[in-house]
Amino acid sequence: MNCKIGVISGDGIGPEIVREARKVLDRTAEKFGHVFQYTELLLGGASIDVHGVPLTEETIEKAKACHAVLMGSIGGDAKTSPWYRLEPSKRPEAGLLGIRKALNLFANLRPAYLYDELREACPLREDISAAGFDLLIMRELTGGLYFGARKTENIDGVRTATDTLTYNENEIRRIAKRAFEIAEKRRKKVCSVDKANVLDSSRLWRTVVEETAKDYPDVELSHMYVDNCAMQLVMNPAQFDVILTENMFGDILSDEASMVTGSIGMLSSASLNDSSFGLYEPSHGSAPDIAGQDKANPIATILSAAMMLRYTFDLDKEADAVENAVRQVLKEGYRTGDIWSEGCIKTGTAQMGDLIADRI
Ligand code: IPM
Ligand code: MG
Repeated sequence: MNCKIGVISGDGIGPEIVREARKVLDRTAEKFGHVFQYTELLLGGASIDVHGVPLTEETIEKAKACHAVLMGSIGGDAKTSPWYRLEPSKRPEAGLLGIRKALNLFANLRPAYLYDELREACPLREDISAAGFDLLIMRELTGGLYFGARKTENIDGVRTATDTLTYNENEIRRIAKRAFEIAEKRRKKVCSVDKANVLDSSRLWRTVVEETAKDYPDVELSHMYVDNCAMQLVMNPAQFDVILTENMFGDILSDEASMVTGSIGMLSSASLNDSSFGLYEPSHGSAPDIAGQDKANPIATILSAAMMLRYTFDLDKEADAVENAVRQVLKEGYRTGDIWSEGCIKTGTAQMGDLIADRI
């Protein structure tokens, strides 16, 4: 197979972790007889440094010409980086939101599970973590508060800021469908998370999700308020299979879910549109404090590359090979600093990439 892959190395630890993911992809291509062709794309701070803006038409067009995009991370230290002296619409994060919108990447899949090998890293009480958990957050990614009209104004001498939260039924239906489809391939449970006791957008969300559920009779649907969900995630995460939620709730809950696994450096994500195209990136951020020090954990990015093989290219065998290689390396006791515990062998970013590539 001939695969055109856009690569956004990005900022902070981005270039290092993407380099390791490419190492693993190249080994996979060699082993299984594929050709992966990479196109470098600029986004975020790296784009600001060259073009003065976090996202250009050129990046959007080049991305569209690829089958999928693999991304490291974008953004810097908001206190010290000059990128954050620019107005908000010119900062690195605006580039990420812009590319999600431009490529219509409305479905964001964020799996969070407890690795057997990394149980000691789980911050939950042992009686809770003993049950294990394996959930997937399906986050709506191109609507809601993130993309509604916003303004900051002065009303009669009082500084006033407004953000608007809008969803229409089509936006809700298409993400709900995705959640039900993926639940059918998992444990067949969808928990839709909203704030329907307060928000109109949530009441419509709940109605449309219920309508959509009728087409998926074998999937069990439940609803939960977002505040309760935040609590349930630390009290009993094993109850969840697929969590379906809107943009901002999904942003918050997915950080929480990944942290309770104790290994945010291990979790991948996919942002998909209506076709097979996807943007794949680790769930964690750009960690500018450890950038360039060979300390970052490349596994989330490597597993994001595996998701790309599975979802965009339909290469299940190859994706399995990458995921198994990761497990193998963990079984052998290798750990980067973030997941290291007594008795394990500490490795740097590049060595972790080598070890995984060697086991493909
Ligand atoms: C994420 C990030 C982004 C978001 C930021 C960087 C804009 O937190 O992907 O979760 O909020 O969507
Ligand atoms: Mg986030």
